[in-house]
Amino acid sequence: MKHLLGIEGLSVAEITKILDLADTFAEINTRPIKKVPTLRGKTVINLFLEASTRTRTSFEIAAKRLSADAVNISGSTSSTTKGETLLDTAKNLQAMAPDVIVLRHSSSGAPHFIAKHVDAAVINAGDGTHEHPTQALLDAATIRKHKGKVAGLTVAIVGDIAHSRVARSDILALTKLGAHVRVAGPRTMLPVGIEEMGATVFERVEPAVEGADVVMMLRIQLERLGGAGLFPNTREYSRYFGLGPRLAATLKPDAIVMHPGPINRGVELDPAVADGARSVILDQVAYGVAVRMALLYLCGGGASSAAAEA
Ligand code: CP
Repeated sequence: MKHLLGIEGLSVAEITKILDLADTFAEINTRPIKKVPTLRGKTVINLFLEASTRTRTSFEIAAKRLSADAVNISGSTSSTTKGETLLDTAKNLQAMAPDVIVLRHSSSGAPHFIAKHVDAAVINAGDGTHEHPTQALLDAATIRKHKGKVAGLTVAIVGDIAHSRVARSDILALTKLGAHVRVAGPRTMLPVGIEEMGATVFERVEPAVEGADVVMMLRIQLERLGGAGLFPNTREYSRYFGLGPRLAATLKPDAIVMHPGPINRGVELDPAVADGARSVILDQVAYGVAVRMALLYLCGGGASSAAAEA
């Protein structure tokens, strides 16, 4: 595996291999000494030109647990603030011979662009409204852990579907793995043609979550709306599309509630549900480390390092 640019290009066998490997790495994360020499001598650059807490931190922890050297660059401290282009930034980083560049960028397609110009493996950590493939993989891993499978489950994704790269990658990954995906949100936040990705569309949240095995709540991507008034106000939004205790009580008894984070508490998700018994949100975060360890292993040459040492 050279790059991980999106779920779109992955086969079911490749997704399953990543999830199986993540389960192996998840065990390492429970040990008292959480470090293995798998990527010793490798360099991972986390180039995050857009804000992140979970993805950036988990990629750094994943690299360090595999004994790689991890370097973090954020938008506000990089020379992109002085006008340097993404291409120049990538070429200059490549000159320092990294093995993997993990890129988050506000422009859709940015990781695909730099992958054409660097020798390092490129991992997409979220590009504009396009894809967030590592989030979809950790979501699938979390569902598999809690439900024992993905195929045949009904997954309801609720919120700002149009501006969410998580929704796009989740729909791609979960339908490939055989889940029935429903999406629900205000009409202004449901992209045209979403049915062609295999999702069933609902304009109300209640029928979307009825009988669902998994309910995935998404925040409104305010940073991508550009001031467009796609909903009246957050109180209205919360009333019609939020998940509070009353709606949560109607879910299947064993339904789980997920959220990729960051949560806007009291808007799309009531704190009582976010912190309640159905919530697996922090398990998603925990799986983020294991899934990113698997991806760094596959893209960073872990398999060839292991073979060379054998
Ligand atoms: N889920 C997610 O991508 O969170 P961060 O933006 O904090 O990385």
